[in-house]
Amino acid sequence: MSDHAKLTYKDHSVDIPVVVGSEGEIGLDLGAAKLRDQTGMVSLDVAFKHTASTQSAVTFLDGANGILRYRGYAIEDLAERCSFLEVCYLLLRGELPDATQLDGYRRELNRHTLLHEDLKRFFDAFPKDAHPMGILSAAMAALSTFYQDGDTEDPKAVELDIYRLLAKLPTAAAFAYKKSQGQPFIYPDNSLRYPANFLRMMFSFPTEEWLADDDICNALDTLLILHADHEQNCSTSAVRLVGSGHAPLYACVSAGISALWGPRHGGANQAVLVMLEEVRRAGGNVKKAIEKAKDKSDPFRLMGFGHRVYRNFDPRAKILKSKADMVLNKLGVHDPLLEIAKELEEVALADPYFVDRRLYPNVDFYSGIIYRALGIPTDMMTVMFAMGRLPGWIAHWKEMREQGQPIGRPRQIYTGPNHRAFIPLNER
Ligand code: CMC
Repeated sequence: MSDHAKLTYKDHSVDIPVVVGSEGEIGLDLGAAKLRDQTGMVSLDVAFKHTASTQSAVTFLDGANGILRYRGYAIEDLAERCSFLEVCYLLLRGELPDATQLDGYRRELNRHTLLHEDLKRFFDAFPKDAHPMGILSAAMAALSTFYQDGDTEDPKAVELDIYRLLAKLPTAAAFAYKKSQGQPFIYPDNSLRYPANFLRMMFSFPTEEWLADDDICNALDTLLILHADHEQNCSTSAVRLVGSGHAPLYACVSAGISALWGPRHGGANQAVLVMLEEVRRAGGNVKKAIEKAKDKSDPFRLMGFGHRVYRNFDPRAKILKSKADMVLNKLGVHDPLLEIAKELEEVALADPYFVDRRLYPNVDFYSGIIYRALGIPTDMMTVMFAMGRLPGWIAHWKEMREQGQPIGRPRQIYTGPNHRAFIPLNER
């Protein structure tokens, strides 16, 4: 018999089954205990700081020891030795592909890289200065109107939708950028690898030949891999919640993009660059930014610092810090923002405010500097995060549907007025 915990309150007592994960994490299964049915009580955990929303076999994250693994593979190995497409396959299918499987996967994906010509017209309707995350979220929701055959109960239809999303999101992202620049849209070139195809759609012109730079493509591959999944984060939870109501997959991904946008989540990479630029303009005084972040009367936070789960270090930030030096050196880029970022990190990590709260650089602290060196403009940085996170969102959505999870519907503790007598309008 499995272990139980016992919860006792006044005359209520309930046995709660204990669930143990494959890495030894322990959960109290309040659902299996039918806590509310048995006792009339619910658990209250604002912002889910102590709540697991599911059991999942996709990604393991150990915040105390800075460990991140996709399907059991260490992020360090995947970032160093895989392509983003291999990681997509791994996340979505559970195993790394062999060379034949990868080739087949790439060919299948390449059949879907074009956007419907009518969808292309949507881009013209947005204001020139529209944020590309707004455009991307709208474009992904709009895909559901072009592909209405997507039955989320049918594995074959789901597979097709997944290919379409993985193939079309980079095209839509690049079109959003081209629109903002007033430049002609560049159609995909399916002979190129995933990152090269995207970079060509972003930076080439119909008038000139464009040659892929291997260093830039490899750096982008690594960044996308580091973004690819992070278990039950804000945007993944949004995708799952929307998906639990059986909305089309495109709508779920659109919700994920919206959830990612905010500066406390994926939007932090853009906010880091804005912050570093402000420090540079103000003469490079990092101590001022640190003091501002510590001031509780000021809403400013040190962007790219802190994480809900990592309380020691973020392994993605560690990889990116060394990658930033390497990429900038290889590209011959000298970016004063990298020096400012390093100084900011050094000063923050020696400050009791950050030490006591266990706030360390997260993935967004160095990613923006690398994106900048690759030529990605600041307001496209969160779009890059979305492109990387896409397979993770879908892997969790798929797992949830395969587990047959019912609609997600949290409870609440009501604190409003008790019943009041109604007063007609003319008597108020
Ligand atoms: N600068 C200054 N103070 C901070 C920061 C920061 N970046 N992050 C947390 N704190 C303080 C916070 O004020 C609080 O202090 P106190 O205990 O005195 O009230 C304490 O640290 C705990 O903060 P919290 O908001 O309860 O922590 P959380 O786990 O709910 O939030 C976080 C995590 C990432 C939202 C937060 O650390 C933050 O806002 N960081 C800056 C934004 C950022 O870089 N986000 C990207 C996260 S990584 C990429 C991703 O997965 O999205």
